[in-house]
Amino acid sequence: MKNLKFIDIIAGARPNFMKIAPIIRVLEVHKARGGHLRYRLVHTGQHYDACMSGNFFVQLGIPEPDVNLEVGSGTQAEQTAAIMVRYEKLLLEQRSDLCLVVGDVTSTMACSIAAQKLCVPVAHVEGGIRSGDWTMPEEINRMVTDAITNYFFTTSVVANDNLRRAGVAEERIHFVGNTMIDTLLMNLDRLCPPGFWSELALEPGGYFVVTLHRPGNVDGFAGFARLLTAIGEATRGLPAVFPVHPRTAKTLGEVVDVPSNIRLVEPQPYLEFNYLVKNAKAVITDSGGITEETTVLGVPCITLRDSTERPETVTIGTNELLGTDSSKLKPALDRLFAGEWKKGSIPDKWDGKTGERIVEILERLLTSVP
Ligand code: UD1
Repeated sequence: MKNLKFIDIIAGARPNFMKIAPIIRVLEVHKARGGHLRYRLVHTGQHYDACMSGNFFVQLGIPEPDVNLEVGSGTQAEQTAAIMVRYEKLLLEQRSDLCLVVGDVTSTMACSIAAQKLCVPVAHVEGGIRSGDWTMPEEINRMVTDAITNYFFTTSVVANDNLRRAGVAEERIHFVGNTMIDTLLMNLDRLCPPGFWSELALEPGGYFVVTLHRPGNVDGFAGFARLLTAIGEATRGLPAVFPVHPRTAKTLGEVVDVPSNIRLVEPQPYLEFNYLVKNAKAVITDSGGITEETTVLGVPCITLRDSTERPETVTIGTNELLGTDSSKLKPALDRLFAGEWKKGSIPDKWDGKTGERIVEILERLLTSVP
């Protein structure tokens, strides 16, 4: 068939997988209907454990990657360099027509640079969001990626405004919504309790979910221990289920007094994790993506960070930005226990149809070029 266009879809770390799944699903439908777009799924190998990667592919029906760059762990620069070298080699062996990256992880930035230097255009799904916090590697990744992105697929009106302020021309900004929410809505009926649900005597609305993995919160032993004590107290003895990220596990090993109601578990697969979130009394987190999911699920969310790149989860959704001062937790949870948490609503275009919008635009962009 003539005029086929080839897109590299890049995924490297856990929060990428739920963002690519809907795009791949729609691309498969597009192909079956005789469309001209084809994709090559490139896994950089930034996350490699079954619990951080493999399980998500299985549960979300993502096909096996066509290529795995197998970069594994390392410092920021080591990972970035390894991904760039290996992805550049791949592009030199077999060029693609577009490099599509998602989110803000190291793989996102590294592949964008390698592609753009070979004059392969870049599309960034979730482009334009900013926290303003340059201490977070993700913010650097966002800024570098967006500086060399051709086509922006944005999740919010705030992202659109950020890009306009940076001088990005209107025709390069495509406000499509949130593919992470496509995945959530698509899987709502499939969510299932984790194996420990009965063992921990969990009941809907009767427990908290905790996730912490930002270096600022978990890399220092003393600060992390203080945070855990504050969480233990503020949650009034209700179970606080804490799926522990590998980075967090390293510091946790040194914390002797984990409060007894904090129940440490392995990182959870997608369907189990979101079952826990959907039925939780509230979520306490330093993640960005989870604040979007809690907003859509209407579950109260407390973010232990000083800034967010997703302000709509606070202004429209159920999220509250509490900062990293652990003494603020108790007053916030007192309001929650008093039934005074805001209800929130759902941001524009977080409707489950973002993958379709993206593929429609990609088709127009790529197949209209001679
Ligand atoms: C990365 C992303 C972050 C995302 C998070 C979700 C960047 C800069 N950060 O941070 O945006 O929210 O993933 O998980 O890209 N490890 C394992 N098994 C794995 C993967 C990692 O044990 O499958 C270990 C690594 O060896 C390392 C630690 O976990 O010691 C951190 O992993 P890394 O990918 O470097 O960064 P994250 O903190 O996971």
